[in-house]
Amino acid sequence: MPLVKDIFIGLSKNQLLNRAAKNYGLKLGAQNVVAGTTIEETIQSIKKLNAEGISCTVDNLGEFVFEREEATKAKEQILLMIEAIHTENVDAHISLKPTQLGLDIDYNFCLDNLKEVVKKANEYDIFINMDMEDHMHLQPSFDLLDDLSETYENVGTVIQAYFYRAVEDIEKYKNYRLRIVKGAYKETEQYAYQTKEEIDANFIKLIEWHLLNGKFTSIATHDHHVINHVKQFAKENQIPNDQFEFQMLYGFRKELQLKLAQEGYNFTTYVPFGDDWYGYFMRRLAERPQNLNLVVKQTFTKKNNILIGLTAGAFLLGRLTKNKN
Ligand code: FDA
Repeated sequence: MPLVKDIFIGLSKNQLLNRAAKNYGLKLGAQNVVAGTTIEETIQSIKKLNAEGISCTVDNLGEFVFEREEATKAKEQILLMIEAIHTENVDAHISLKPTQLGLDIDYNFCLDNLKEVVKKANEYDIFINMDMEDHMHLQPSFDLLDDLSETYENVGTVIQAYFYRAVEDIEKYKNYRLRIVKGAYKETEQYAYQTKEEIDANFIKLIEWHLLNGKFTSIATHDHHVINHVKQFAKENQIPNDQFEFQMLYGFRKELQLKLAQEGYNFTTYVPFGDDWYGYFMRRLAERPQNLNLVVKQTFTKKNNILIGLTAGAFLLGRLTKNKN
């Protein structure tokens, strides 16, 4: 399925469709995988998950921001969410993307935004996870983490198993709370493993290493083969349950999420919210085209049809131009 993956990754970066999607609200099935457009709606979704014994990491959707005003708006929204987590006393922390806070505009501008967020979260003992994006942003994101760590401890990040350098990164950052994932972006063989077998093998290797040597490990995957392997590995190596957790995305494999929580494993659901859902949603389709079943179940309203038409147009254009973004 590499062509289909390429097409959806290409679509995820399409600025025109992104803008159109914002105007149309949660459509195309995105409402199944995005917890709400407002903080109030999202807090209600978090409360429901908390009641099932599931913790949450909350992501104000948005990335690849190129205007200072937009980055500042995103920061304000994250600060409001931190305040809401505190006042509503819900079990949740924050995930954020450095490009949403201005990494593509200016490093120091982004760092200042991040400092404000991490400081506020620190006051309430709330953890901040810096999501990892594509290769271009990898080293600058680790630099941000280094700078933030000079003052704050309530911050961690993500290790993407498809990168060759992940082994060195995990060793360097072993004393941080780390989320380990396979990796969601399109990367070239210069930097990253390309086959599923290689990525899966490195994923397992990194998870095992961090479980044995690291601080707290978040294993973020919907892959039951990996989950079963981790359960067995933890048992055989007497890794206590409070040393790790499983994470999955909101709306995916809900029964398995609940089952793991009921079995006594720490479980955190990644809860995205906001109107900037398009890129996130297209990446989910790139990972697993079967997720299209979330799309086709939706009613075909007039507004939906316009968006579907635009998406189909870009899809065909992607095929014609062999879009490799
Ligand atoms: P993958 O898609 O490889 O599927 C493997 C197998 O699992 C499938 O063949 C199937 O058997 C089963 N499966 C998967 N999904 C299923 C479903 N919905 N229903 C039934 N079976 C299913 N990436 C990144 O680059 N930076 C980041 O910061 C993050 N952050 C992040 C947080 C969280 C909480 C998650 C879950 C993921 C991320 N990711 C990410 C995305 C990650 O890198 C990866 O692209 C996706 O999780 C997809 O890979 P999986 O390991 O989930 O399974």
